[in-house]
Amino acid sequence: MQLEIPCCDEARHGIPIGLLALVFEARGAAAGLLSKATRSKADDNSLRNSVFDFIIVGGGTAGCVLANRLSAVPDWKVLLLEAGDDENIDYDIPGVPTRDYRPIVWNYRTERNGYSCLSRPGGACEVRTGKVLGGSSVTNDMKYTRGHRRDYDAWHSAGHVASLDWQFDNLLEHFKSFEDNGDYDVLMNSLYHSRGGDVRVQRFKHADRFVEMFSNAFAEMGLRTMDINTNIAEATVVNQFTIYNNTRLSTNSAFLKPVRHRKNLVVMTGVTVTRIVINKQEKNVEGVIYESEKGKEHPAYAKREVILAGGAINNVRLLHLSGIGPKPELKKHNITVIHDLPVGAFYQDQVTTGGLAFALNDVPPVDENTIINDFKTWFHSRSGPLASRGINQLSAFLQLYENNNNAPDVEISFEGNFVRSDKFLLTNISVHTAEEFSMPLPYYNLISIYPVLLKPKSKGKVMLNKRNPKYGRPIIQANFLKESEDLDTLIDSIDIALQLLDTRELKKADIKFAPIDLFPCDKLRNRDQWNCIARHYTKAMSNPIGTCRMGDNSTDSVVDYHLKMHGIEGLRIIDASVMPTHVRGGIYIPTIMIAEKGAKLIKRDWRENKGQYNSRR
Ligand SMILES: Cc1cc2nc3c(=O)[nH]c(=O)nc-3n(C[C@H](O)[C@H](O)[C@H](O)COP(=O)(O)OP(=O)(O)OC[C@H]3O[C@@H](n4cnc5c(N)ncnc54)[C@H](O)[C@@H]3O)c2cc1C
Ligand SMILES: *[C@@H]1O[C@H](CO)[C@@H](O)[C@H](O)[C@H]1NC(C)=O
Ligand SMILES: *[C@@H]1O[C@H](CO)[C@@H](O)[C@H](O)[C@H]1NC(C)=O
Ligand SMILES: *[C@@H]1O[C@H](CO)[C@@H](O)[C@H](O)[C@H]1NC(C)=O
Ligand SMILES: *[C@@H]1O[C@H](CO)[C@@H](O)[C@H](O)[C@H]1NC(C)=O
Repeated sequence: MQLEIPCCDEARHGIPIGLLALVFEARGAAAGLLSKATRSKADDNSLRNSVFDFIIVGGGTAGCVLANRLSAVPDWKVLLLEAGDDENIDYDIPGVPTRDYRPIVWNYRTERNGYSCLSRPGGACEVRTGKVLGGSSVTNDMKYTRGHRRDYDAWHSAGHVASLDWQFDNLLEHFKSFEDNGDYDVLMNSLYHSRGGDVRVQRFKHADRFVEMFSNAFAEMGLRTMDINTNIAEATVVNQFTIYNNTRLSTNSAFLKPVRHRKNLVVMTGVTVTRIVINKQEKNVEGVIYESEKGKEHPAYAKREVILAGGAINNVRLLHLSGIGPKPELKKHNITVIHDLPVGAFYQDQVTTGGLAFALNDVPPVDENTIINDFKTWFHSRSGPLASRGINQLSAFLQLYENNNNAPDVEISFEGNFVRSDKFLLTNISVHTAEEFSMPLPYYNLISIYPVLLKPKSKGKVMLNKRNPKYGRPIIQANFLKESEDLDTLIDSIDIALQLLDTRELKKADIKFAPIDLFPCDKLRNRDQWNCIARHYTKAMSNPIGTCRMGDNSTDSVVDYHLKMHGIEGLRIIDASVMPTHVRGGIYIPTIMIAEKGAKLIKRDWRENKGQYNSRR
């Protein structure tokens, strides 16, 4: 389905991609060497003969927060194990998308199902999360959203007092505790916002004309520009991002880098945990086995707890391999069942569709020298167009249904792409070309519009790879759009997005529906056509949750409201996988909140009488 226009081939093989690859490779190689050299022999030696109080599996979004908070107790020795390598500065350029950069992602895909992702390669949707120190906070969009209070209030269970802690009113203090809001107008609302925390957030200073144009278009449609983090239902949002000095602030940068010198903290990169070691009789966790290279096993022991923060997909693989999961599943692989729990069930991801894009017919091709200079400008002074994310800075949150009690159903999000063609007129673009980044985000002549289903009803599951359970990609049965309600909501939101084209603002600028090749949906019309498009060009947001969800008991959930695994001593899960359902927004900031709260729960649990931290054994 790749379109072959001779004039346009350059878009895929020309300078811009080459430039990005060059920047990545040249600087990446140097940084890579450095990080291996700094992982000193001393670390390896001390590791060989020692035990830790806490072992954190996964130095991702949550893992870096946990490493900071737990190693703040000087008596606690903390080990952080991360499969990916150290972060480097090229991932920090706000205008350069990192999510598809192979060396730093887990490149997974969903199973073919016959009703969604149909025209994607292999009938599967890609799911890519970060594999690097900082995890998905290095590959994500950095948008600062907390979700709506209703989402958290719904996590509460009537029967359990501890679940009251997860009500929004009780979580707000945690959200505020790590916030350092840099936009005065937002900060003025002190009920919701604060300063002085570890995570700097602010809007980009640089916003291009299309950000303003689309804000105005939404205004024409009656949508006001507001702060989405105040529990409202609808708004146009000029997003805040986790950035400092126009540089990406991953949780590695915000939480780990400032404390890496601590003597009681050992950080290892390039190591994959392949098993949690559990005493079968006592159902007590002893430690982990990790591999520095395939098959080369090393043990590490935990006196107090092992904490999983490997994300919603990798946690499942690790737990199943360790004998924790649904009995029938483990039996298929001849794995001895240590504890029967629904690990991997209740997989959920937010979902959207490709195929909806607007063409900006008056944008001239970008001169490559301009881009090179823009890179130099960013490296020298952290300014210029690359200190922004183009139209990606804008979102619109919509409540589609009256009965939805003042909370949004969808987020319309935007992404700019540059498609080369004759005389600036875009013709017959494939969905793939429309979505592919051939240039950094601030340079674009096509705006892809993604209506994101914030609260999907469809649920799936994650299982071990059949042939290669240990190293192979886990099986992800995502079941996207299985529930007809999900499809209906998506299509209803597309109707609204299309109304943008009727606004004076967009007409004035001659912005039109992009001529995308929508085969096999091209012959259909209206709703039938959009239904077809959504089923064929489904797109996963890669915001997976639910596989280790928290809840009352071991039939329905994996961890309790203190994030401790049901029925196993010394094991907690603290990352996005414990979320029972999505919050209405991204899940980056909610994941940091979960880690922040999780660290407090751990400290409280070990600080029994007289402020002493007691040992488990
Ligand atoms: C492309 C993209 C864009 C996004 N944009 C936004 C956004 O703008 N706003 C928003 O709110 N949300 C966004 N999200 C969602 C959000 O960033 C993630 O869902 C969240 O950061 C997940 O955090 P986590 O700690 O659960 O997992 P991760 O951050 O993915 O961390 C897991 C870490 O564990 C490591 N690991 C896994 N298994 C092992 C093992 N066995 N041994 C050692 N290490 C292991 C991994 O390598 C990884 O570093 C986005 C997500 C993606 C993928
Ligand atoms: C668009 O491209 C596809 C294949 O890439 C081709 O089959 C189709 O005929 C083209 N349509 C137009 C209108 O050029
Ligand atoms: C499980 O064990 C049985 C009996 O030993 C064997 O026949 C089967 O091939 C094994 N299955 C796997 C997946 O290893
Ligand atoms: C921002 O980064 C630039 C380039 O490295 C540096 O010169 C400047 O001092 C930084 N500003 C702040 C406030 O850190
Ligand atoms: C487990 O929890 C769920 C959800 O709260 C509840 O519906 C179910 O009855 C519980 N099962 C048992 C066995 O307690």
